Amino acid sequence: MEAYKVQQHNYDVIVVGAGGAGLRATFGLAEKGLKAACITKVFPTRSHTVAAQGGIAAALGNMGEDDWRFHFYDTIKGSDWLGDQDAIEYMCREAIPSILELEHYGVPFSRTDDGRIYQRPFGGMTTHYGKGTAQRTCAAADRTGHAILHTLYQQALAHDATFFIEYFAIDLIFDDEGVCRGVLALDMNEGTLHLFRGHSVVLATGGYGRAYFSATSAHTCTGDGGGMVLRSGLALQDMEFVQFHPTGIYGAGCLITEGVRGEGGYLTNAKGERFMERYAPSAKDLASRDVVSRAMTMEIREGRGVGEHKDHVHLNLMHLGPEVIHERLPGIAESARIFAGVDVTKEPIPVLPTVHYNMGGIPTNYHGEVVQKKGDDVDAVVPGLFAIGEAACVSVHGANRLGSNSLLDLVVFGRAVSHRCAEIVKPGQAHKDLPSSALDKALSRFDGLRHANGGTPTAKIRANMQRTMQDDAAVFRTSESLQAGCKKISQVYDSFKDVRVSDRSMVWNSDLIETLELSNLLGQAVATMYSAEQRHESRGAHAHEDFPDRDDHNWQKHTMASVDDAGKVSFDFRPVHMYTLTNEVEVVPPKKRVY
Ligand code: FUM
Repeated sequence: MEAYKVQQHNYDVIVVGAGGAGLRATFGLAEKGLKAACITKVFPTRSHTVAAQGGIAAALGNMGEDDWRFHFYDTIKGSDWLGDQDAIEYMCREAIPSILELEHYGVPFSRTDDGRIYQRPFGGMTTHYGKGTAQRTCAAADRTGHAILHTLYQQALAHDATFFIEYFAIDLIFDDEGVCRGVLALDMNEGTLHLFRGHSVVLATGGYGRAYFSATSAHTCTGDGGGMVLRSGLALQDMEFVQFHPTGIYGAGCLITEGVRGEGGYLTNAKGERFMERYAPSAKDLASRDVVSRAMTMEIREGRGVGEHKDHVHLNLMHLGPEVIHERLPGIAESARIFAGVDVTKEPIPVLPTVHYNMGGIPTNYHGEVVQKKGDDVDAVVPGLFAIGEAACVSVHGANRLGSNSLLDLVVFGRAVSHRCAEIVKPGQAHKDLPSSALDKALSRFDGLRHANGGTPTAKIRANMQRTMQDDAAVFRTSESLQAGCKKISQVYDSFKDVRVSDRSMVWNSDLIETLELSNLLGQAVATMYSAEQRHESRGAHAHEDFPDRDDHNWQKHTMASVDDAGKVSFDFRPVHMYTLTNEVEVVPPKKRVY
């Protein structure tokens, strides 16, 4: 192995990732007087949060009656009773102060006539526990993620957080007692290696949408945190639950916000029918995402799709008029023009359910601490390790996330981690020495990949993985498709042994970086396919045609999937938290989920 020089940096807390969650955590830590470093593989304001369009949920009640308890109920129902109710209570209650803080930090929200934050309805949002319709999604036109990301980055800089930009996190570093002590990273500008020591390491690395062929996720969404966690021998949770957003642009996959339907847009099939009326008589186009994506898929399967191949449907917003479109939805008008060649004031947008969000991820409690099942302890904390945002599975989204609860999750749990770290980390505390062998495994893996000289290019293995996931872990799954999918994805995983890295330079545009990213994606693709295969029920985004009903007796539990170096998956389970933190809300028991 080549002898690598590794430069060491000591901080109180290391945050990996500079999207909404990472920046909220970094800023919060710095604000509390902790020496915080944020390492990020892209410039912070290019993180994928920038693409979030429609808004962030909080029961502010600016546009009609609302209550955080209604939000709590809707989120549990949306999760199809797989969400942890203590964490959901925490998120929905803390939503209100978290959004008001954002407003004070400077997020340029759209405004009502009387100057309050503008809120639009999104899918699955109700008042009075399913009776009325709530307008709960706080919006900055259709560029809410962009507005939040820029504000948080400015706040982090203003509070003297340190950023290491275009650094790729390679692996987590643990001591012999299983305490996470830091992260090994590559400076992709200089081509140098760095060990970042922290008393806490916070993974805010986003989802792994790019395990699929067509996703609204940026090409950078390669689940680097989840990959590192799997390699550390820890389990990921609920990986079978992958959200398909109903309205990705046909062919291009770019997101068209649910806010379009919130503002009054609707879907039609080849006969011009508003088909959602048949599938969700009350909520119609604003049913939960899993429900709408399945309805669209059924219409297409039954021959009522539009276009030459009858393989997509239409999203209509012409009737909203140019003024509403210009004021509330300017970004999607531009996306539709560029990516579909459509003038949304005159024609419908061709859309198709597209991979959008990973409900599964690194299991945590509501403080953001990573947890695992250890013997009888089902919530055992992994010391020193935290995860937040899409990388994490708190689990507030359970089997299906409600639109605009994602930006909320980023902000609430980014903030929660800063609170927790301020309780457990003393500013300036000395770092314990690490055993001399602490970096050996990570360096040897890095060197092995760097010099990989097999016969299969990285791009070919990635294409095989993406095609397999797209075909076999889709909106609808069957035993046959999933069993075939497991076989194929294992073959793809094995083929990585034969990977060829053609450009070994340790800089950001090299084949080496793509290969490191692929290694992260592969573990999560395997965990997703096998987790889906073993769950013999339908719940939320996991629609299993051979087991069409939800089975609470056998399956109201979190799947814990570990993947060893050979790609073998093993399972365990954790119970869903059916308790709340206070008496202000009551547990919502499972019932039939209709919209
Ligand atoms: O449709 C959207 O604007 C997406 C929002 C979300 O995923 O939360």
